[in-house]
Amino acid sequence: MAIAQDPARLTGYAHGGGCACKIPPGELEDAVRGLVGQTSPRVLVGLDDGDDASAVLVRDDLAILSTTDFFTPVVDDAYDWGRIAAANALSDIYAMGGTPISALNLVGWPREVLPMELLTEVLRGGLDVAAEADCPVTGGHSIDDPEPKYGMAVTGVVDPAQLMRNDAAEPGLPLTLTKPIGVGVLNNRHKRTGEVFDHAVAQMVQLNREASQAAVAAGVRAATDVTGFGLLGHLYKMCRASGIGAVIDASAVPLIDGAKRSLDEGFIPGGSRRNLDWVRPHLRVEAPLGEEELVLLADAQTSGGLLVVGEIPGHPVIGETTAGSGITIR
Ligand code: CO
Ligand code: CO
Repeated sequence: MAIAQDPARLTGYAHGGGCACKIPPGELEDAVRGLVGQTSPRVLVGLDDGDDASAVLVRDDLAILSTTDFFTPVVDDAYDWGRIAAANALSDIYAMGGTPISALNLVGWPREVLPMELLTEVLRGGLDVAAEADCPVTGGHSIDDPEPKYGMAVTGVVDPAQLMRNDAAEPGLPLTLTKPIGVGVLNNRHKRTGEVFDHAVAQMVQLNREASQAAVAAGVRAATDVTGFGLLGHLYKMCRASGIGAVIDASAVPLIDGAKRSLDEGFIPGGSRRNLDWVRPHLRVEAPLGEEELVLLADAQTSGGLLVVGEIPGHPVIGETTAGSGITIR
């Protein structure tokens, strides 16, 4: 792509933007099938259900959460990319009901192609968001890499009694979503046209801390964050892990401004389509929705909100869990 020649456009160096550069869900599951991690009675959450972070008990009232996330440039602005990547990496700790306590930077940088000053901006963005989260960045690792990558490995703590798991969702509870979806579509448009969407950046750098604390305070047992597999993908994963189903009220799902229009104008991320294809066998669509509206429900999010099994004040309820299986869209 010609864009890749322009050193001012970071997204031109990325084959896929943000969490949309994740390995597709089905492929990843095939690759790790049959591999088991180390088993120990101290492992509260391990590899089994692809939860947001692992949880290992170190004391009766304390578990350590470990998670890592990194990706290619999702926006052209280096500082914003750093902020988004950090907020996204921290999010998995919040999705477990925990508090981040320490983070390490992970960097891949094409040092002969991109100026190191740009890397400084990326890292400054990450540091600023980590500081906002009161999470010290205490080190990291970097490699020379033809494709720039940035993210963090984050360690957190949680009271095991307050752990929010993917496999603990009960039927008959409301589903709450704490950020609008559709940033994948806007990121795709940004990558292709260079148009900047400040409101999308503002949403992606926003921490899920308050949403997490509200969920824990409400006694929520199950939650996840909506990232690369999209709303439908992450909901399906949580339902499958918990052995339940869900109903989504499509008209209640909040959409970020401009996503619908951009979708109509043809800005459709490939990752979002793949997400929909992956979930489709488990989907019953009762609402009169077109294919593109379904793609939007599966849109690959970067640093998306929390999907909470329960109700938290100030955020929309988008459906409910059921005793069945699969996802029904009304
Ligand atoms: Co997650
Ligand atoms: Co993650």
